[in-house]
Amino acid sequence: MEEKVTNSLDSIYAYAYWRHCISLGDGNFTPGVRFENNWEKLHFPSSLKGMSFLDVGANDGMYCFLAESRGASRVVAVDIYHNERHQWEMTNGWPVYGIQAVKDYRKSKVEIESKSILDLNYTERSFDYVFCGNVIMWVNDPYSAHFKLAAIAGKTLHIREDMFVNEGPAQLRFSKLWKPGGEKPMFAANKTYYREVLGAAGFKDIEFYEIDEQQEWREFIRKCPRIIAPAGTSTFVLPQNSEPSGVLRESRNGRISAQVGDKAYVVGIGWLRIGDLKIITEDSADPSVFQRWKMRLENRRNRENRQSNFSIIAHR
Ligand SMILES: C[S@@+](CC[C@H](N)C(=O)[O-])C[C@H]1O[C@@H](n2cnc3c(N)ncnc32)[C@H](O)[C@@H]1O
Repeated sequence: MEEKVTNSLDSIYAYAYWRHCISLGDGNFTPGVRFENNWEKLHFPSSLKGMSFLDVGANDGMYCFLAESRGASRVVAVDIYHNERHQWEMTNGWPVYGIQAVKDYRKSKVEIESKSILDLNYTERSFDYVFCGNVIMWVNDPYSAHFKLAAIAGKTLHIREDMFVNEGPAQLRFSKLWKPGGEKPMFAANKTYYREVLGAAGFKDIEFYEIDEQQEWREFIRKCPRIIAPAGTSTFVLPQNSEPSGVLRESRNGRISAQVGDKAYVVGIGWLRIGDLKIITEDSADPSVFQRWKMRLENRRNRENRQSNFSIIAHR
């Protein structure tokens, strides 16, 4: 699936919906809000020399480009990619624009395929390393998704997912009941489930690494200051533009993920003049998003059957 974009930084900056912050190889980055140090946090190997790498739910492709720069011989990005630039949803697909723009910019060989995890039809064990990060919780049949991934992984299957921390009998739960067009599924299992399901699929050694979400959140709010853009704020397609492309009809909240000259990039809006924005500090007295998140994470941590985000790495 190919979409033509111009091979320049403008093609990157003219897109207002970046999620991943990806190195473009020349000191520039895509202005997303998920960072490349996730590679180390998730315990990916430092080298993938000569290995084939499949990323399912690859999104803007950050892990694919990292895998390529770490020596992977073949990299395939799968997501429910579509050509609508402004529509993105965890369960309904993702714009192909972002990953395609980085591919063109970096002259990368990453292959892009639009497919659901439940429709994967690669030959058994055809990829050395299969990664799937925070995708399965959105899928209505996680069990089948795990078996699809397990069948394709030749050496390593790496899943990032929310999980119950407790030991005990295998459990797999939905926090919301899924019906077509209705509530979104939110699935979580526990370690015993992964040991049994991945063990049955031939994986011998399974590592579990809990991800420190408090630290992730702190890093995010430090790197991406919170702003309010009042109604009437001018928007710009590119940071160097002096002519606005439009104007905000209503006041908008957001976070700055990049600054160029006098403009700031806010995901979902695009480029705004920094001087037009009200910057919110995290220690402001009102019940900020930060406080609410802190409480949510504390609650998650203190519950008896607590849930947390994990990196699960299974080897054959
Ligand atoms: C929370 S994002 C995670 C993106 C990326 N893996 C990461 O870790 O940053 C979930 C991604 O899964 C994709 N997705 C959702 N349902 C999917 C499905 N059935 N098959 C493939 N991808 C799916 C979404 O389009 C989205 O890009």
